[in-house]
Amino acid sequence: MLEEVYKERRERLLEKMELGVAVIANARPQTRSNDTEFPYRPNSDFYYLTGFEEDNSILVLVKGSEKNHTVLFVQSKVPEMELWTGKRLGVEASQTRFEVDAVYSVDDFDKEMRLLMAEQKVLYFDLFSEDLVYTQLKKMAQEMLHVRSVSISPRTFSDIIKLTQEMRLIKSSDEVAEIKEALAITEKAHHHAMKVCKPEMDEYVLQAEYEYIFKKEGAYSDAYTTIIAGGNNANTLHYIKNDTTLKSGDLVLVDAGCERNFYASDITRTYPVNGTFTQEQKELYEMVLAVQLKIIKAIKPQGSKKVLQALSERLLTEGMVQLGILEGHVKTLMDEKAHKKYYPHGIGHWMGIDVHDPCPYNDENGEELLFAEGMVLTIEPGIYLPKEDEDLPEKYRGIGIRIEDDILVTKSGCENLSNSIAKSVAEIEAMCKN
Ligand code: GLY
Ligand code: MN
Ligand code: MN
Repeated sequence: MLEEVYKERRERLLEKMELGVAVIANARPQTRSNDTEFPYRPNSDFYYLTGFEEDNSILVLVKGSEKNHTVLFVQSKVPEMELWTGKRLGVEASQTRFEVDAVYSVDDFDKEMRLLMAEQKVLYFDLFSEDLVYTQLKKMAQEMLHVRSVSISPRTFSDIIKLTQEMRLIKSSDEVAEIKEALAITEKAHHHAMKVCKPEMDEYVLQAEYEYIFKKEGAYSDAYTTIIAGGNNANTLHYIKNDTTLKSGDLVLVDAGCERNFYASDITRTYPVNGTFTQEQKELYEMVLAVQLKIIKAIKPQGSKKVLQALSERLLTEGMVQLGILEGHVKTLMDEKAHKKYYPHGIGHWMGIDVHDPCPYNDENGEELLFAEGMVLTIEPGIYLPKEDEDLPEKYRGIGIRIEDDILVTKSGCENLSNSIAKSVAEIEAMCKN
C-alpha cells in the first residue's frame, strides 16, 4: 500500500481523537522457548497506521488545538546488532519514508515522550495491553505529576484501540484487494490439497501441503494455525494437533487461510479423504451447504449478524430434523436449544488484518451495528456429530462438517470473495480426482 494510505489513516484517527496524545506501540517479539523466538508479526493497529514491520517501534500522535504532530520512534542503525538480526531502516531513512513530523531513536523514547506529554491532559493508549511501553507511559505520567515545571500532564487515560477498531470495520478498496490476493493463494492451496490428499497421509503432512503452497505463492504465513481434522477429529472445534493418520472413508475438515501483506483469509472446506463422499456424508454436506448458500444470499446493507445467526440456527435445525438427527418440532427444539449440541458456534466474524478482526459488533449503546458497504465477514455454518454420541443415528456418528467463505458487503448486497474455491459435492469430487 502507498505511504499516503497510512498517512491518511493517521489523519483520520487524529480527527476522531479529542485533544491529547496517543501512543501505539508495535508488537514485541514473542519467545518460543529459552532464547528462540516465534517469527515476528507486527501489531495490527500499528501496522494499519504505519505499514512498518520493524519491532521496537512506536507511533505517537499529538492532537493539538491548532496543529497536530506525528512522531515515530524506530530502532537506530547499529551494525553490531544488524549482523545478528538483520538490517534496520534507521532514523534517517524512516524520516524519508514516513511522512511524519519527526522520527527519533527508540532509545530516546523516555526523554522525548515526556516533552510530548507535557501540557496534554489526555493520554490515549491500549488500556488493556500489558505491553511494557504502556507500563512505562503510566509511570512517566505519574512522575510528571510531581515535576513543578510541568503545569499540565495527562490524568485522563483513554482507549485508542476503540477508535482504530472502529476505523478498521470498513475496508477500503485497497484492503479488499489485499484480501482477494490472500484468497487467490488460499484457493490454490485448497485445490492443491484436495488433489494430493490420500488415505494414510498424516494430517500434519496435509498441513504442510497447504503451507508449502502459501509460501510458494507469496504468502509468508498462515493467518491462523491450520486445522486438519480427519473423521471424528472434526468434532473438536479448534483441533490443531493435526497428528492423526487420515483414513479412507472419512471426511477431512480443513480450516486454512494464508495471510498476505498482513491481511487474512479464512476458509474451511470439508472433503473426502479418498475423493468420494459416502451417501451419508453427502446428505449431511448438502444440508450444510444449502444453509450456507441461503445465509450468504441474505447478506446486504442494513442486515445484521444477529439475523444471520438466528437464520442459521433455524435452517440447521430444520435440516437436522429432516435427516433424523433431532426429533421434534423445530420451534420447540430451538427454544430448548437442542440444536446447539451439534451447532455450538457463531455464524461468522469480521475479518481483515486479523483473522478475527477486533472491530465492534455493537455501538456505544449496545445496539447491534448493521451491515454496511465495505465490511468483510466470514460465513461458516457447521454441524458436529461426535462418534460417541448415542443419541445420533449411527450412520452419521463421527462426522463433522463446516463450510466457510469470506464475504464482502457491497452497496446492494454482497460478494462472496471465495466463490471460486471448490464447494459443491460435484466440484470437490472433481477436484479430488484431478
Ligand atoms: N479459522 C478460525 C475461524 O474460522 O474462526
Ligand atoms: Mn472463521
Ligand atoms: Mn476458519
